[in-house]
Amino acid sequence: MKRNRRDAWPRIVIALAVTACVVSPAVLQSQSAAPAPPPILLGTAWYPEQWPESRWDQDLALMQQAEIHMVRVGEFAWSRMEPSEGQYDLDWLDRAITAAAKHGIYTVLGTPTAAPPAWLTEKYPETLRIDENGHRAEHGNRQQFNFANAKYRELARKIAEQMAKRFGHNSYVLGWQIDNEYAEESYNPDAKAQFQQWLQARYGTLDNLNARWTTAYWSQTYSAWDQIPIETRYGNPGLLLSWKRFVSDTWRSYQKNQTEVIRANCDPRQFLTTNMMGWFDGFDHYTVSQDLDLAAWDDYVGEGHLDPAKNGAAHDLTRGFKRKNFWVMETQPGFVNWAPVNNSLDKGEVRAMAWHDVGHGADTVSYWQWRSALNGQEEYHGTLLGADGTPVPLYSEIQRIGSEFAKAGPVLAGTSPKSEVAILHSYDSRWAINWQRHNHDYDPIAEIVSYYKPLRAISQSIDIVPPTAPLAQYKLVVAPGLNVVSDEAAKNLIDYVRQGGHLVLGQRSVMKNDDNGLQPARQPGPLAVLLGGRVEQYYALVDPVPVEGQWGSGTSQLWAELLSAQQNDVEVLERYGKSNGWLDGQPAAITRKVGKGRITYIGVWLDEPTMAAAAKWMTEVSGVKPALGAVPDGVEVYPRYGEHGAVYILVNFSKSTQTVSLPGPMKDVLEGGSKQSIVLPVYGLAVLSVERQP
Ligand code: GAL
Repeated sequence: MKRNRRDAWPRIVIALAVTACVVSPAVLQSQSAAPAPPPILLGTAWYPEQWPESRWDQDLALMQQAEIHMVRVGEFAWSRMEPSEGQYDLDWLDRAITAAAKHGIYTVLGTPTAAPPAWLTEKYPETLRIDENGHRAEHGNRQQFNFANAKYRELARKIAEQMAKRFGHNSYVLGWQIDNEYAEESYNPDAKAQFQQWLQARYGTLDNLNARWTTAYWSQTYSAWDQIPIETRYGNPGLLLSWKRFVSDTWRSYQKNQTEVIRANCDPRQFLTTNMMGWFDGFDHYTVSQDLDLAAWDDYVGEGHLDPAKNGAAHDLTRGFKRKNFWVMETQPGFVNWAPVNNSLDKGEVRAMAWHDVGHGADTVSYWQWRSALNGQEEYHGTLLGADGTPVPLYSEIQRIGSEFAKAGPVLAGTSPKSEVAILHSYDSRWAINWQRHNHDYDPIAEIVSYYKPLRAISQSIDIVPPTAPLAQYKLVVAPGLNVVSDEAAKNLIDYVRQGGHLVLGQRSVMKNDDNGLQPARQPGPLAVLLGGRVEQYYALVDPVPVEGQWGSGTSQLWAELLSAQQNDVEVLERYGKSNGWLDGQPAAITRKVGKGRITYIGVWLDEPTMAAAAKWMTEVSGVKPALGAVPDGVEVYPRYGEHGAVYILVNFSKSTQTVSLPGPMKDVLEGGSKQSIVLPVYGLAVLSVERQP
């Protein structure tokens, strides 16, 4: 395959030379089609605009030697692409793409709109964002733009259009990253006016808005749309949630402004994505992902070491945005520059992490960045080359990943994770809990991970999806802290149980309606009838409270909901021990069979061992089986399935060598041969395949 790619080159170059003057770029590129890129890509962020062109070939040759087949280019290079208004210069970018292609390296183009040039914001100061404190940003950093501003969007669209016209049919351009890590909201007057219009479109009349936000409280009643303020922390919960939804819609339209013009000018083969940030909750990622072809995220550990559960859940969250494989668009080559302590990952940990990514469904792992700019804010960040332009110690580990991706790529092509268990996740709920934590240590992400970790250890694969997603494929659906529930989501959950699924609601579930107001019924609101029980009262805890029952004796931390069973067929799974008097002896977790289905409510934040026992019960009662079979603690299993069978990636994140016995003979994709058991040193890994029996 590699050979074919190189063989194709002389023909491409001749075609370019002969036809460049007479044929449109589109036709020209279709004549020089690149071979298909490898199925599992290793990549890096590369900034050719920061280096003399005479250096490019050396960089690209070093990438090629590490089997890096993708560079992401351009996302901060606006001042180089448009040095003054309307004067576009993309020739250098064309040359960079061509130079990369000569080394078998494909390009993903970033639109440069996260870093507007100085001339732009100087000429149009309204494009600079105003922060919550009323300060207008200045040039010299990035993300200083006003995401709602019409002029900014016009200029962003133009540069995106220029790029798409030039590279939309270039067969070495795989796709597009729009902007970079959407994050900063604007509080400019135009954003505020748009928010008020957005409210009008959503609520129709002020009477309706006033009723749904209960603005009679504290005399908040509005008699004109332009009276409505922006609140981000202590405001009316309906207002807070509306602002976040407006922000999400504004990022969506900000993105659409560029995706529309790129799509109009590019091959359908090229994908559109943006690089998100895992658990970051600045906007609803389900809203913004709707117009993308592919989800991608920037996967950084920061201080410390990889936490396979928390990081794995972030992968599964990202996979859930489009409910298909995703990309790791950026990840750390050893260390970052922005954590309190920028320690390096251990030798072997970067490789283990890369396979952990692929195991969770990443089809690309791309390092940020190739080489540090010689000046600029991120001089200390980890890289693959040093300031002298030669490889750093980590480079050889990256080379190893590259050769392993090349080896395993054909087996992994077309495969993806498939799970029997889903965890439900909603931004509305996370925001709602974070605005009113009630116990300041109550972290909704930690709540999700407290369920995810033991459930994943048993099932070896989990999907994380929104509460309105199709659920029929799952044997078990767990909703930790699903605080805000729309009527549509409630119906989806009720249907799931009625059709035979097992729904587990975690503490703080189904308390709020779609306006972040209290449900007029006790928790779990519209699901209480199905549950045959309800939450009588919730208590924030200073000290842990004892619980005991079916899952053994343990404690509840931070939170305790006093449950009641209102129907005879409701089973009490756990009860509180002696605590504040109110909780003593009362139900802490209940379950009820509903036809072939089941609904369970857990009102406590269980300690780890009790949660592990609860997870065991949940999976057993729902018929969930481990994808591969039992493995030693600390060994992670990541199954990916395709037409021709299954691939199991195993990574040892424990502190000692582990031996895994396999349920049957499997092909060792990296080492060769058939294996019945496998020995994994610390950070060791294996890729095993089983062909589907005919
Ligand atoms: C990301 C960003 C990159 C780089 C990196 C450093 O958030 O997209 O441009 O700054 O962090 O870790």
